[in-house]
Amino acid sequence: MAKNVSVIVGTQWGDEGKGRIVDLLSEHADFAVRFNGGNNAGHTIIVNNKRYPFHLIPSGVLHPKTTAVIGNGVVLDLEVLTSEIKMLQDDNIKLKNRFFISDRCHLILPYHKALDQAFENARGKNKLGTTGRGIGPVYSDKVSYNGIRIYELKNWDLFVEKFSFQAEIKNRILKTFGVEEINIDKELKKFEDLRKIILPFVTDTFTLLQEALAKNKNILMEGAQAILLDLDFSAYPYTTASNTVAGAINSGAGIPPQKIGKVCGVVKAYTSKVGSGPFPTELAGKIADNIREKGKEYGTTTGRPRRVGWLDLESVKFACKVSGLTEVVITKIDILSGFKEIKVGTEYKLNGKSISYSSCGYKELESLNVIYKTLPGWDEDISGVRKFSDLPKNCQDYIKFIEKFLGVKITIISVGPAREEYIKL
Ligand code: IMP
Repeated sequence: MAKNVSVIVGTQWGDEGKGRIVDLLSEHADFAVRFNGGNNAGHTIIVNNKRYPFHLIPSGVLHPKTTAVIGNGVVLDLEVLTSEIKMLQDDNIKLKNRFFISDRCHLILPYHKALDQAFENARGKNKLGTTGRGIGPVYSDKVSYNGIRIYELKNWDLFVEKFSFQAEIKNRILKTFGVEEINIDKELKKFEDLRKIILPFVTDTFTLLQEALAKNKNILMEGAQAILLDLDFSAYPYTTASNTVAGAINSGAGIPPQKIGKVCGVVKAYTSKVGSGPFPTELAGKIADNIREKGKEYGTTTGRPRRVGWLDLESVKFACKVSGLTEVVITKIDILSGFKEIKVGTEYKLNGKSISYSSCGYKELESLNVIYKTLPGWDEDISGVRKFSDLPKNCQDYIKFIEKFLGVKITIISVGPAREEYIKL
């Protein structure tokens, strides 16, 4: 059986530079597919000096032969989606017959965003640090049968009825938070205009992808967020609201698991995190500032400064196992140039005993100690290097150490932000 499906997932807390890798690999993909999350994700692709910020549309759309698909597991803010469509159309990037949205996608509605922010404010010092895009509330409406699928927009009267019913209930909740309620008529007017732009792209993407599989097309599944934010497998409640593990391609786009040929995990050479919650290898002070500035570690979606730390191989090893990674890509290794020493977290210890990432809830992750391996650094600017053997010896050793520890082959090392700045192994 042909196994033409490749999955790309982040192995840490997001922002590993997946967009770059997706862009690189989608050159040979017939289809590029999103299957989870919403516009809490974000990445920027630079082509011919032009910046394309993406939050929803698979960035594979920039390759003219690739068809872009938003699968049913994705939640959609139609204002964000239409502005992305416009950005591409303004640049004469053709979307007709090569961009499709599942009719099963749930809509992020204005009250979801209002509720996300109201809950965050109410949590006070316990706030989670969500992106404020309505992600938790929209997925909770989905599982409690209160969601509205994009499918409903095809029948305007039904949509008006459902939206009004939900918005009235949500307004009562918003009132108890003491925040501004949703103006139902004003919002409906907006949706009346948005649906005209969106509906031409809406279809049964399950059938579309099944046909693609039957024709042995290459399909690239573009994971959003990352494994340490998975709703089930990470430190709940410091998670996102969707499953981010590779297996989510089945529920999020209808791709059967046995079609997967490759699961590529993206590992940033250090760690970053936005939002609250435990971060065992977090750094503070000068080293952190240095990594944050050099690595431009500020959120693409929210602009927030990211927390940074050393690479945490105990948790990345968990990511390798849970998603069955067949290969690893290392990103942003160039940011580590210039450090005398580089540390890597290799083991967690709680009360003197070794403990695995998967045995930890957020309380354990907050109080454990990390055992580090210290490796010598390198000074050279490596952004121009295109061959592994041309990298400084200490940089090669750092990469070999990661590969040996994870037991998964490293196939690409990115050494800079531009499309061509990478080493293939
Ligand atoms: P939400 O997904 O907006 O509900 O946020 C929940 C948690 O996931 C917060 O800590 C966010 O900062 C984090 N998060 C969500 N999406 C991303 C992402 O694409 N990159 C990094 N962190 C993210």
